[in-house]
Amino acid sequence: MSLFVTFEGPDGSGKSTQINLVVEHLSRLGYRVLCTREPGGTAIGNQIRQVLHDVSNTEMSARAEILLYSASRAQLVEQVILPHLAQGGIVLCDRYADSTYAYQGYGRQLDFETLRMITHFATQGLTPNLTVYLDLPVEEGLRRKSAANVTGEGEWNRMDRLELAFHQRVRAGYLEMAQKEPGRWLIVDASAPVDQINQIICQRLEQVLAVTSKQQSVASTKIL
Ligand code: TYD
Repeated sequence: MSLFVTFEGPDGSGKSTQINLVVEHLSRLGYRVLCTREPGGTAIGNQIRQVLHDVSNTEMSARAEILLYSASRAQLVEQVILPHLAQGGIVLCDRYADSTYAYQGYGRQLDFETLRMITHFATQGLTPNLTVYLDLPVEEGLRRKSAANVTGEGEWNRMDRLELAFHQRVRAGYLEMAQKEPGRWLIVDASAPVDQINQIICQRLEQVLAVTSKQQSVASTKIL
């Protein structure tokens, strides 16, 4: 049973909390779960993450930015995600290619066809079975992130410093992508209580697990 689930959402939407709860839930059910994140998730990816997040890198071009996110993703897919899926495990990833479409596509307004081509090359065409989007008004996300920054729980990165209009385009972009592909996306109101959000995610996850396991057993019967 292999499954690839990604989590998206604005800064400060509580993705990490929800991912940890999902890991606990799936592990309790006996699944082999691997949890990773972008940018990063590998030694090389973590070095790239530092370059991407360094607030002093103000001169970084939008083209360099997309290639760095994609380089980190290519390494993660090949070194970590594909091998775990091949062994029949579940992979949960904190951000994936949809972040590129949202931030570099809708946010930076780079050409979508180019982004799709680069992303396809970097991911070897790997698409999530389910993408959970934790939706939050932009101002609330940034407020939460600043609060975490003050208490030392969060890091204020290069993207967080961009103007409100940028983050608003990113949010509208996520909502548009989710609307275009409802079978893959689950939109959750991130201002709801943590337990309630977790319940909604686990419910949908169990539906996806049931469908995917049926599809995979049909596929393996055909191979036999
Ligand atoms: P991170 O510190 O991981 O925090 P969070 O996921 O909680 O926001 O920040 C990752 C940042 O990188 C975030 O601002 C979104 C941005 N990003 C892109 O712009 N493009 C991408 O392809 C990815 C993966 C992330």
